[in-house]
Amino acid sequence: MEPGEALRVLEAARAGGLEAIAAAGTLEELEAAKVAVLGRKAPFTEVQRSLGSFGEDDRRRIGRVANEVRGALQAALEERRAELARIEEERLLRADAVDVTLPGRRPRSGSLHPLTIVERDIVEIFTRMGYRVAEGPEVEDDWHNFEALNIPPDHPARTMKDSLYIDVDGLLLRTETSAVQIRTLESQPPPVYVVAPGRTYRREAVDATHLSVFHQVEGLAVDEGLSFADMKGTLEAFARAMFGERRRVRLNPDYFPFVEPGAQVAVSCFVCDGAGCATCGNGWIELLGAGMVHPRVLENCGVDSERYTGFAFGMGIERVAMVRYGVSDMRLFVEGDVRFLEQFQGAA
Ligand code: PHE
Repeated sequence: MEPGEALRVLEAARAGGLEAIAAAGTLEELEAAKVAVLGRKAPFTEVQRSLGSFGEDDRRRIGRVANEVRGALQAALEERRAELARIEEERLLRADAVDVTLPGRRPRSGSLHPLTIVERDIVEIFTRMGYRVAEGPEVEDDWHNFEALNIPPDHPARTMKDSLYIDVDGLLLRTETSAVQIRTLESQPPPVYVVAPGRTYRREAVDATHLSVFHQVEGLAVDEGLSFADMKGTLEAFARAMFGERRRVRLNPDYFPFVEPGAQVAVSCFVCDGAGCATCGNGWIELLGAGMVHPRVLENCGVDSERYTGFAFGMGIERVAMVRYGVSDMRLFVEGDVRFLEQFQGAA
């Protein structure tokens, strides 16, 4: 190689090398450019290899230029490597970025079952009046479900037609929460003020207004000097808290073996205010059974019926929920369609 040509090759290697280095877009491309520019087969390297064939002056001159070119190329490589590393890091950071100003993902919250809402509201109204919550088993014996409640052996409620018996002799699924009246009076002396919410069972064809598994809330107050007027006042206070301040209650005579006298309790319609409408028909909504606790029931539980009197009441939670929410078919409460069930809100 001519000295002149060697110098031209070196200048070309410098210019071409700087261009190739600047053009490298990734660290891999930069590595390839380094091999092309300073590697064993690069024109620059060939010139260096042939330095020995030049005379001393040329060798010095060309050697100095070669050192300059190598220095320039190495500096450019280093600079580009640092630049590409910075770009790569920025890319990674951007890919990893978390935008802390984005709104959070809210977990979807569920809703209470309408029967749960109604049961809680009923219980809440009575606990505010000083009542406690009482409980009893769903599998009951003859004594608590019938005998002690003054339901004689020949009463129609005793027959297979209304009751669901289980395989153990003398046991059945309770037909009304009134059984809890007995359990409460057996376990504590008066004064007693309790509400007992719970599940009840009857052998019944299921239709729009009947379920074979349903819910009731029982109420029981036993104390000295309790009268029918106390009962009416209590139920009126309940009706107002549940259905609005303008509600009145109407008592009609009714028969339940465990109360005397017994009454069917209706509440003035909260839709039409008692004028008569599609919800109520004649202005009144029949909502519960009630009455003065039968002296025989008190005596059955060892309570002195000369000293103590009391009243009891019971209502169906499904029935209260139907009138409160304007639901015309009771089966909707148990069919489990979430679109239906999530629509309801309590009084609170
Ligand atoms: N247990 C009665 C029923 O299921 C309701 C009731 C309770 C009536 C208490 C009077 C007193 O229909």
